[in-house]
Amino acid sequence: MLVWKSIRRTGAQLILINFTNLNSSHMKILVIGGTGLTGRLVTKKLANLGHQVIIGSPSHGVDLMTGEGLSQALENTEIVIDLSNSSSPEEENAIRFFQTAGKNLVKAELAANIRHHLVLSIVGTDDALEIGYLRAKKYQEDNIKNSGIPYTIIRSTQFYEHTDAIIAVQGRGDEVFVSKIDYQPIALEDVTDYIVQFALEEPKNGTVEIAGPTRANMDDFVAKYIEIAGKPIKVVSDEDSKYMHLVVPRSLLVPAEEYNAGKIHFEDWALSTLEN
Ligand SMILES: NC(=O)c1ccc[n+]([C@@H]2O[C@H](COP(=O)([O-])OP(=O)(O)OC[C@H]3O[C@@H](n4cnc5c(N)ncnc54)[C@H](OP(=O)(O)O)[C@@H]3O)[C@@H](O)[C@H]2O)c1
Repeated sequence: MLVWKSIRRTGAQLILINFTNLNSSHMKILVIGGTGLTGRLVTKKLANLGHQVIIGSPSHGVDLMTGEGLSQALENTEIVIDLSNSSSPEEENAIRFFQTAGKNLVKAELAANIRHHLVLSIVGTDDALEIGYLRAKKYQEDNIKNSGIPYTIIRSTQFYEHTDAIIAVQGRGDEVFVSKIDYQPIALEDVTDYIVQFALEEPKNGTVEIAGPTRANMDDFVAKYIEIAGKPIKVVSDEDSKYMHLVVPRSLLVPAEEYNAGKIHFEDWALSTLEN
């Protein structure tokens, strides 16, 4: 609560002006994974809006695996945004992380009476549960759905910022093999805006999806990026439905139905990112 008082003299009269800004929209928010790729931007945006942001990560004394520092970080906290991630996407590691982290987090949040828990998940999580990382994310989602804590799950498509990783993983020499599966990535900046927007709204107690403004084949996105970057790499279009060497359903990486679209177009993002 910010209070300013000032006294002004008008002629012979003393007028007391008491501006009281009961800005209840400024809240205490815990961002788990606040040091990560997404968490850093979300933390910055919330702080710029005037919220009190606590960063929850091992380097800031909060460890979801052991529960260390959680109850202190949750004291008087109203909203929790979970942007944590396992140290690798490998099946056993991811499942262990999201199971243990989820249990510890829910227990601590119930004790702290948290008003809203928002978690960032991935589109298509139900559609390829044979992929260990998606099974781990599904566990993370179900854990919060069944907790009794008011929640919102955001399922996002892949980020534009992920394009270099596709080239690195699927590339061989001066060629990169990319399939023609449906792809609708989104800029991290748009993801950040949606996380902040939904976190500050009432809990949906359900799932919302977000995606970029354009759907095309994955090889077209990668070819455009390589063209703008001027990289000496040739895109070889693969007919099989593969992503990061895994065979996946053709529409796994795009929203299922209604979704919230990002504003930033891929080409504009690539031009501004690559020239900086
Ligand atoms: N990247 C994508 O394309 C994409 C798309 C859709 C959804 N998502 C989801 O978004 C989430 C965030 O992804 P990201 O790529 O932004 O994450 P990231 O860069 O890998 O960062 C992971 C964060 O988790 C924290 N963390 C790790 N172990 C922890 C622990 N034991 N306790 C508390 N915090 C811990 C890390 O803290 P330290 O820095 O201290 O290690 C770091 O802040 C993930 O769950 C991912 O599935 C990502």
